[in-house]
Amino acid sequence: MSHLDAPTVIRTKRDGGVLSDAAIDWVIDGYTHGRVADEQMSALLMAIFLKGMVPAEIARWTAAMVNSGERFDFSDLRRAAAPSRPLALVDKHSTGGVGDKITIPLLPVVMACGASVPQAAGRGLGHTGGTLDKLEAIQGFTAELSKDRIRQQLRDIGAAVFAAGDLAPADRKIYALRDVTATTESLPLIASSVMSKKLAEGARSLVLDVKVGRGAFLKTEAESRELAATMVDLGNANGVPTRALLTDMNCPLGRTVGNSVEVSESLEVLAGGGPSDVVELTLALATEMLDAAGIGDSDPAETLRDGSAMDCFRALVAAQGGDLTCPLPIGTATETVTAPYGGIMGDLDAMGVALAAWRLGAGRARPGEPVQFGAGVRIHRKPGEPVAAGEALFTLYTETPERLPAALAELDGAWTVGDTAPMQRPLIVDRIG
Ligand code: URA
Repeated sequence: MSHLDAPTVIRTKRDGGVLSDAAIDWVIDGYTHGRVADEQMSALLMAIFLKGMVPAEIARWTAAMVNSGERFDFSDLRRAAAPSRPLALVDKHSTGGVGDKITIPLLPVVMACGASVPQAAGRGLGHTGGTLDKLEAIQGFTAELSKDRIRQQLRDIGAAVFAAGDLAPADRKIYALRDVTATTESLPLIASSVMSKKLAEGARSLVLDVKVGRGAFLKTEAESRELAATMVDLGNANGVPTRALLTDMNCPLGRTVGNSVEVSESLEVLAGGGPSDVVELTLALATEMLDAAGIGDSDPAETLRDGSAMDCFRALVAAQGGDLTCPLPIGTATETVTAPYGGIMGDLDAMGVALAAWRLGAGRARPGEPVQFGAGVRIHRKPGEPVAAGEALFTLYTETPERLPAALAELDGAWTVGDTAPMQRPLIVDRIG
């Protein structure tokens, strides 16, 4: 492979060509091991963003990312509580949403129903939040788990949420680079990023939550459908039965967008309350996961009512060093947006709210930058709800007061108050696979 070089690979894609298997293997291996520089990979990612990839390139790019690291196998494990049965290993991954805290209540729900979840989770990407950034808002919580510790947690409590670490290390580097080079919104790059982690992490079946609408990375329903079909095909072709729900992401999920504010809302759901859309999506994905894992006869809703999902969440957090007795951090500089007149809350643009949270410090503008755990937005009125003049519509939180004006500017134009309720959209748009 010594005849390959980065400028030639970049030029091939820049000019709309198809990358050979050898070129893909070479460039992923070279980037993982530092022989291909960040600026060269950035240029290649932008060329892929602009020119796309054919299905065979996506499949090879994904395989090369899987092969850049270890592939976990937990098939020998048994739950301490049920030593005669293999684990029902299943996972879920979202393509990235706004207020998308679903993993936090979902994992404990399926744990309580007897599934086991080895979840390689991500940090914030572009305008979307990341599960790890949210969970790390809990004092002491760590996602840096060794393989032995992941195995131990799967055996003892049935779940582990971890930074991908040695899994698909090529994705870890490319993911961080995409976040700061405006190359996140690309079907081949999203599909390969999600599926490389998911194929490597040791789940035996997979449920994808593919977002559709203004707050999704891909803007049209047709593109989101193609993304879902591409990932379902990749999973099935690699021995991990995969299905997807297409779900609405025009409006933020729930009433919080940020890090610790989303953990608080997830705790409300686990306590049997919380916003109805978060509960609906949690239960829909749980039903799919349990069916995929072959334990579809349990009732996920009951685990929210009887407290068993909350118990599982506490066990998960404690196993990963977190202390739920410490108060969750909340930004001390706040601003409230109030209704100029009474009426009905109109459409709420997920992208505007996401960018406001990002400006407040909930996400990153540079690779590796720390996020503010207490930064975020509380949404007091969702579309269709009555609004009184002067009432609070949003509260913004940050540790950095100078961020507030830019965040307020992002929110401007993202909401309306009018005379009529906006059109209601179904949360679950379709099911694929
Ligand atoms: N989640 C990922 O892991 N990667 C993406 O590109 C988008 C969402």
